[in-house]
Formats: sequence, structure tokens, C-alpha cells
Amino acid sequence: MATKIYIVYYSTWGHVATLAEEIKKGADSVPDVEVTVWRVPETLPEEVLGKMHAAPGREDHPVITASQLAEADGILFGFPTRFGMMAAQMKAFFDSTGGLWQEGSLAGKPAGIFLATGTQGGGQETTALTAITQLTHHGMLFVPVGYTHGAGMFAMDEVKGGSPYGSGTFAGKDGGRTPSDAELALAAHQGKYFAGIAKKLNAV
Ligand SMILES: Cc1cc2nc3c(=O)[nH]c(=O)nc-3n(C[C@H](O)[C@H](O)[C@H](O)COP(=O)(O)O)c2cc1C
Repeated sequence: MATKIYIVYYSTWGHVATLAEEIKKGADSVPDVEVTVWRVPETLPEEVLGKMHAAPGREDHPVITASQLAEADGILFGFPTRFGMMAAQMKAFFDSTGGLWQEGSLAGKPAGIFLATGTQGGGQETTALTAITQLTHHGMLFVPVGYTHGAGMFAMDEVKGGSPYGSGTFAGKDGGRTPSDAELALAAHQGKYFAGIAKKLNAV
């Protein structure tokens, strides 16, 4: 049976959504893996989203409910940072997983993290690190990217998001920056790397 990978994200302006798509491409390149991209529910009213000039939710990425997480063999969670930690929308989604926690439904499943920040030093690492508490309480197995993407991870010749914790992008102060080629490449690598590990664990 195919290994089921869920990519579950929240994105206000689309940067995290773009990474999710790229991660999917990487994961799709692994045979016998079935990948689905999901959005978590929005918690802000339309009026507020309008004032924030939020991007419309992508219709090709359906909204997930907490109980559906249990169907996956591995889950990659993506979110923008808010004051150095995950956005409240993703936190609210995790807060709705109490039933899964009680049943231990996610225990032993691999999990990865990807994210966006506005700026360098804005939380590429703290946002990932503080999200590990969610995975830990569920007993999920955090799968970092480490330095598996090779020499490019050490290169200092350009500004780029992402870290050993997972892929990432910088949106820029006004959100006008789009993910760079290097950031997209790390995202695709993360998808492929994660899918390979999830597949191995699924076979055990
Ligand atoms: C209330 C608020 C708090 C934010 N806090 C941070 C922050 O601590 N560090 C940072 O680099 N960017 C911060 N940002 C910028 C967002 O992280 C950035 O716009 C987001 O990562 C873009 O991703 P998206 O297009 O997927 O929504 C903040 C944005 C908002 C609205």
C-alpha cells in the first residue's frame, strides 16, 4: 500500500503555500508515496483578512479537520511565524487535536516542519524549535532536514531561508519577496527526503 504523506499548512499571503507545493513535488518523486496538500481552518473573520490583504485560500488545497490527520503515515506541517512562533491559526488547529492525543493516534508517525518569516533573524529557527513541543506531546518523530541537502546549505553568497530544522523562506518586511530558487530547492529536497523516511518507517 502507498505511504500517505499529508502536507498541512497555514498561509496568510501565500509564501508557505508555495513551499507546500514545492515540498509536494519532491515527495511525489518517491515511488509508492501518495501526497495530499491541506490547509488548516482560518480563524480570522473575512473583514479582518480583507484589511490584511490576505491571499484567498487555495481551492486546490482542501481544508483539513483534525481527525483526518490520523489517516496519514507522515505529516509535514507548514506555517508563517508570528513573533517568533507558529501563527495562531496553526496553534488553534493543534489545539483541536486533543482527541487524537488521547487516543495516541499520531504517536510514532514522522513529522516535519517548514515555515516562512518576514525577516532574517525573525524566527526561522525559533519558530521550528517551539513547534517541536506540539510534535513531542503527540509522540511524533521529528524528522529534521539536517544538512542533507549538501554544500548549498553552507553557502553564504545569497540571502536564503531554511535551516537544518526544515525548509523556509523570507517574505520580506512588506511580504513582497517570493521564495528564491535556493529556498524552493531545499523545499523539494525536504519533501523527497521526508517521503523516503516515512516510506521506510511505514514498511516496518
Ligand atoms: C502579527 C504578525 C507577527 C509577525 N511576526 C513576525 C516575526 O516575529 N518575525 C518575522 O520574521 N516575521 C513576522 N511576521 C511576518 C510573517 O511571518 C510573514 O508575513 C509570513 O511568514 C509570510 O508567510 P505567508 O505568506 O505564508 O503568510 C509577522 C506577521 C504578522 C502579521
